[in-house]
Amino acid sequence: QATSIPADRVPDMGKRQLMNLLLLGAISLPSGFMLVPYAAFFVPSGGRGTGGGTVAKDAIGNDVIAEEWLKTHGPGDRTLTQGLKGDPTYLVVEKDRTLATYGINAVCTHLGCVVPWNQAENKFICPCHGSQYNDQGRVVRGPAPLSLALAHAGVEDGKENIFLKMFSYFSSVCLTGNIFH
Ligand code: FES
Repeated sequence: QATSIPADRVPDMGKRQLMNLLLLGAISLPSGFMLVPYAAFFVPSGGRGTGGGTVAKDAIGNDVIAEEWLKTHGPGDRTLTQGLKGDPTYLVVEKDRTLATYGINAVCTHLGCVVPWNQAENKFICPCHGSQYNDQGRVVRGPAPLSLALAHAGVEDGKENIFLKMFSYFSSVCLTGNIFH
């Protein structure tokens, strides 16, 4: 009967549990307060809906308004914006003059240079060591080991304007479902 608790130990156990509760309270109370600003950080400001995501910003830091963007960016256009976490991200205009449902992170997967879009070649070509990616960011020439990261993009109806928002990153493998380049 080594596992049974002697009766005279029970008050001790109760005391220990109380101590544990007090300790837990002491730890969780301040961290609860700390969580408030932390959580607030993720709440979109400016009343632009609560659907999450980050509004893409243009080169000078203004929110990208989908309609305006499409007036000045034609089919096939790939222009750098600030996407998730401020990462340099290409917005893609599809051939049918709609915004693609993905943005392309411009950071080369080799050593991190920002990869420019080469319209004539229809590719992203890294100036640092020559890696190449196709028009959807898929790696077609090394030394880059991976395709460019893609960010889910979508329009969100604000009060007056429809903004372009960026959501989580995903692998370009998911774009076509084809894992073979
Ligand atoms: Fe782009 Fe090396 S950093 S090829």
